[in-house]
Amino acid sequence: MNLQRHQSFLVANYAPPAIEVVRGKGTKLWDKNGTEYLDFTSGIAVTNLGHSHPEWVKQVQEQTGKLAHCSNLFSIPEQVRLAERLVKKIGEGKVLFCNSGAEANEALIKLSRLYGNCNVPNRTKILVAKNGFHGRTLGALSATQSKKYRQGFDPLLPGFVFCELNNLADFEQAIDEQTAAILIESIQGEGGLHVASNEFLRGVKDLCNQNDLLLLMDEVQAGIARTGEFLGYQKSGIQPHAIAMAKGLGGGFPIGAIWVCDKYASLFRPGSHGTTFGGSPLACCAAHAVLDVIESENLTLRAQQMGSLLLEGLEQLATEFPESILQIRGRGLMIGVQLAFEPADLISFLRLNGLLTVGAAGQTLRLLPPLTVKEAEINHSLEILHSGLSHIKRKN
Ligand SMILES: Cc1ncc(COP(=O)(O)O)c(C=O)c1O
Repeated sequence: MNLQRHQSFLVANYAPPAIEVVRGKGTKLWDKNGTEYLDFTSGIAVTNLGHSHPEWVKQVQEQTGKLAHCSNLFSIPEQVRLAERLVKKIGEGKVLFCNSGAEANEALIKLSRLYGNCNVPNRTKILVAKNGFHGRTLGALSATQSKKYRQGFDPLLPGFVFCELNNLADFEQAIDEQTAAILIESIQGEGGLHVASNEFLRGVKDLCNQNDLLLLMDEVQAGIARTGEFLGYQKSGIQPHAIAMAKGLGGGFPIGAIWVCDKYASLFRPGSHGTTFGGSPLACCAAHAVLDVIESENLTLRAQQMGSLLLEGLEQLATEFPESILQIRGRGLMIGVQLAFEPADLISFLRLNGLLTVGAAGQTLRLLPPLTVKEAEINHSLEILHSGLSHIKRKN
């Protein structure tokens, strides 16, 4: 890889990359030299069907030849049908399309403004969880507490109050007459794979009902079957007022969406919000292909089954390497291994031995294989992890 050329032309907002990838198939990725990797990043929870799934490729190729983009000046049949499919999976409500997770969260924040501004006095506060991550646009960033992401970008949007995840009392005491909404992830991805418990989610929904607050779920990373439910919060049995989705929805083609329950969907009026690309025929077609394959290959169940297998193997590793593995968290195929050390050296070792992983906050190694991952690939990843942990042990 020509790192110098890379750095000459690209803004250095990402760390210098270690490899240059050129091709993918299923769980596998290949670099320019033909080296093969098991991809347990899935493009950060995006390629949930694996790379180049034949059904996804076929549908996207066909749509490209038919109509890629036309804007929301016109009704787009693929968009209407996708909204209908999402409503069937989530519940009575309406859908608004955009292009990314941050954009979907911006739409949720704007929904809470439209809602809060109907009150006298205006309600502009949103309670969010410490350790959460909601994206890099200024609104979504304001909802994200970590200094690492916020540094240098002041002034951010005021009105976000950070409370402890899974601590209902902390959320309850933060509510005042200016509070409009609560925005949380069902499983914090970037924040270190902290799972919002079912009891906590039910308690948060009760708090919202009691105080007339909107419950906004950020399902950008945990959504689209990754955790063994179509959306991560669904295990708790609650129904939020609005939900942000993106990442896995397009399976590799950018698309974001919010679902809003019927009661609040009409807060958006013609002209009050929009985007040129949101819900284009091509983006919606990619999402249809994702939903088709999730249904035909029963990937929700597969995420549970393969997730259990991976978890079992990781728990064995935790018994063998108790000095290195402090905790294993997550659900389905969204798993974090909290380490006793910064994960960078382990991530490099794993990559050099053919396994791609990604870090998360709090010394966490994140494992996000595609939902189509094979049993043999999980076993192989566990072998590589075993050598990685042995290597670290020898070094120390
Ligand atoms: C929970 C969550 N919300 C929002 C985002 C932002 O999504 P995007 O990078 O598509 O803007 C992310 C990205 O990692 C995320 O994990």
